[in-house]
Amino acid sequence: MIKESFSIRGVEFKNRVLVASGTFGYGDEVKDLVDVSKLGGICTKSLSWKPRDGNPPRRIVETPSGMLNSIGLANIGVHNFIDEKLPYLRQVDTKVIVNIAASSLQEYCDVLRLLEEQEGIDGYEINVSCPNVKEGGLNFGTDCSMTRRISEQLRALTEKPLIIKLTPNVTHISEFARAVEEAGADAVSVINTVIGMAVDIHKKKPKLSTVTGGLSGPAIKPIALAKVYEVAQAVKIPILGIGGIMTAEDAIEFLLVGATAVQVGTANFINPGTGVDVAEGLRRFAEQHQLADVAQLVGAMESNVEFSILQSWL
Ligand code: DHB
Repeated sequence: MIKESFSIRGVEFKNRVLVASGTFGYGDEVKDLVDVSKLGGICTKSLSWKPRDGNPPRRIVETPSGMLNSIGLANIGVHNFIDEKLPYLRQVDTKVIVNIAASSLQEYCDVLRLLEEQEGIDGYEINVSCPNVKEGGLNFGTDCSMTRRISEQLRALTEKPLIIKLTPNVTHISEFARAVEEAGADAVSVINTVIGMAVDIHKKKPKLSTVTGGLSGPAIKPIALAKVYEVAQAVKIPILGIGGIMTAEDAIEFLLVGATAVQVGTANFINPGTGVDVAEGLRRFAEQHQLADVAQLVGAMESNVEFSILQSWL
C-alpha cells in the first residue's frame, strides 16, 4: 500500500489532489457525476458576508489553452452557505476547505468567526487575490503588509488549517509567502489567476465587461510551476500547487518542484471528474516507481541550482 495522504495542521487529507475554488461550486452540483470521496479535498467558491451577483456579462472568454474570467466573486453569501450547502458538505467523505473573500479586514474576520461556530469545516483558504473586484482583491493580495495583517488576524481566530491563496501578479511571490508563514499561516496556495485580457477586433472592444480578467488553464502552467518553485525555496510550510493541471503528469511536475499537494481548477469545466482521475494517475505513477509514499516526489526535482536565476531574488 502506497501512502497517499498528507496533513496540514493535524488535518489529514486522503490524497494530494484537491479541487480548486470557483471550479467546483459548493461540491453539491456534481454529486451525481463525481465520487467526491476520491478527492483529497474540496475548496469551495469564495464566500463573502453578503451574497454577491458578481460582475455584468460577459464574464468568461476562452483563449488559447486558457480561460479568462471576471466573475467578480459572485456567491451565495456565508449565511446561505451555512443553511443550504454545509448540510451536504458535512456528510461528504472528503475534507472541506471553505474559501473566504472579502472587501475589508473586518469582513474576513466576520465570515471566519461565523464559520468557526459551524460543524463540518476542515479548514480555510483565504482569497486575497481576486483580480476582478475593486475593493479588496488584488489591492490586498499585491500589498505584502496587508496580506500579512489579514493572515495574522485570521490566525488569531482559528485553530483550523489556514491557507492563504497567493497571486502571481506581483514581482516576488516568495516575499508574500514568507510574510504569511511568519504570520502563522499553515500553507499557501500558489497560484491564483494571472491578469489577462482579450479584445473583440470587430467591435473594437474588450471581450470582458471589466476589460481585464483572470487567466487560468494550461496556458499558465509554466508560470505556476516557476512560482511554486520560487516559493518552495523560500518557506517551510506546505504549498498547494495550482495552475493548468489537466493530468497526473501535470500534478507530478508540481510535486517535483516543491508542491506538497495540488488543486485541479479549470479542467473541472471540461470534466468535473478530472481531480479523481489525477489522484488515480498519481497513485499509479507512485506504484510504477515503487514509491512507499507519494511524499517522495515532493521537491524531488534535481535542479541546476547554480544556473537558477531565481536564487538571486531569495
Ligand atoms: C474570481 C476570479 C478569479 O480568477 C479568481 O482567481 C478569484 C476570484 C472572481 O472573479 O470571482
